[in-house]
Amino acid sequence: LGELRAFFRVSGATGYNTNADTTCNERKRIMAIQAPEGTFDLLPGEAAFWDHFRATAFDTFARYGYHPIETPLFEQTDLFVRGIGEATDVVSKEMFTAISGGNMQKLLAGEKLKSKSRLSLRPEGTAGVVRAVVQHNLVPQGGAPAKLMYAGPMFRAERPQKGRLRQFRQVGIECLGAEEPTVDAEAIIMLMRFFVRIGIPAGDMRLLLNSMGCEKCRPAYREMVREFIRAHESEMCEECNRRADINPLRAFDCKNSECAAVMANAPKIIDHLCDDCREHYEAVKRYLDAAGIAYEEDSKLVRGLDYYTRTVFEVQVDNGMGSQNAIGGGGRYDKLAEEVGGRATPGLGFALGYERCVLALEAAGADTLVARGLDLFVVCVDDSARDRAFALVQACRDAGVQCDMDHQGRSVKSQFKLADKLGANFVMTLGPDELAAGEATLRNMLTHEERAVALDTVAAALSA
Ligand code: HAM
Repeated sequence: LGELRAFFRVSGATGYNTNADTTCNERKRIMAIQAPEGTFDLLPGEAAFWDHFRATAFDTFARYGYHPIETPLFEQTDLFVRGIGEATDVVSKEMFTAISGGNMQKLLAGEKLKSKSRLSLRPEGTAGVVRAVVQHNLVPQGGAPAKLMYAGPMFRAERPQKGRLRQFRQVGIECLGAEEPTVDAEAIIMLMRFFVRIGIPAGDMRLLLNSMGCEKCRPAYREMVREFIRAHESEMCEECNRRADINPLRAFDCKNSECAAVMANAPKIIDHLCDDCREHYEAVKRYLDAAGIAYEEDSKLVRGLDYYTRTVFEVQVDNGMGSQNAIGGGGRYDKLAEEVGGRATPGLGFALGYERCVLALEAAGADTLVARGLDLFVVCVDDSARDRAFALVQACRDAGVQCDMDHQGRSVKSQFKLADKLGANFVMTLGPDELAAGEATLRNMLTHEERAVALDTVAAALSA
């Protein structure tokens, strides 16, 4: 609280001194503000590629019956605590808390916030989507499964490094209401099809598969892992020893090489599945085999979120990635709807990380920029042509043609340079002669072909 008070030392929630006589140095400080650590801007060519990436994903997933959903960027903190799990790194260390101005004042005054006022930026999409499904009863009893897809920013206060950001973009799907293994296999096939369609070479990807069991078989297994960790207490890090009490399976995720070496010999969940889970797992594998999807079974794959039951999977790429090599992952979560207060509703989903996919695409030599393009640039020879050019570009735009003109009084030569820079396919030059004749020359910038076009038919000529 003391730190908060110091940070927000001035009244108001912004923390800025709103005093009118801002000094020159303070102004300079404001000018130099950069994007926060672990975030970055998507500049025009990059933002256009994100649009293309998301549209391609949605087009792929729509073929499998998925429909878009949008949920808020922040939710009640309790949703993530209950859904993702209090002992996970994501919830215990990496959440960004969102505090409104009024609530900040209450906190500073030492008041406790009601749970509905305790808000966090979403670290992932699943909890919010499941909350929305429950809140709006999107899977009525006996109804068809809800197949939902989403794309957008997620927030995790992790230490930034290559492929690990504080704000990153995910594209994901959630299917609620069906527990059949066909749902699991279909989602995995769809994910792999998308990765290949967007340009990640199939040979660069490794699909890891495991089963986490269910509430019948996992408790006994968890106990076994707890005892295993206790028996190797002295060889493992402090955090893993602490994990043994709260959630021993998290020890499989430990990055410490000594812990990893010990955990390589830990009991394997796959040897301790109940009959139903084993049957489910075998069926998922059968469907994947039939579809020709290659996978590696990895009994250490436990994923970093606590809601998983049965199938879990992750796609990794080594080429160009560094240590953050998972480009996507997901699994089944048959208990999550109940955790957030809904009726028992089985579910399965995955999310893929856009920025990591871009790294994988770049490593494979694929293009991740969409070049700027323009159908037409109108060059004005002098000011007498400006009014007619202004009306002409407007008519062209209304007809669906992407076009532009100079807005800075540039010379003819630099208008041509600008047209080139903007990637214009055609350039039309307008001057007193063209205005008098009522027609002008349309020049194809690629082939250098020229043809005369009546000024009032330019839009039709280009949109044809
Ligand atoms: P996740 O494995 O935590 O799963 O995240 C999915 C993907 O998001 C990762 O494979 C990675 O590509 C990307 N990602 C995660 N954290 C970062 C980060 N800090 N910086 C950049 N990229 C990152 C989930 O989020 C689950 N909600 C997936 C799911 C959906 N399970 C069931 N339904």
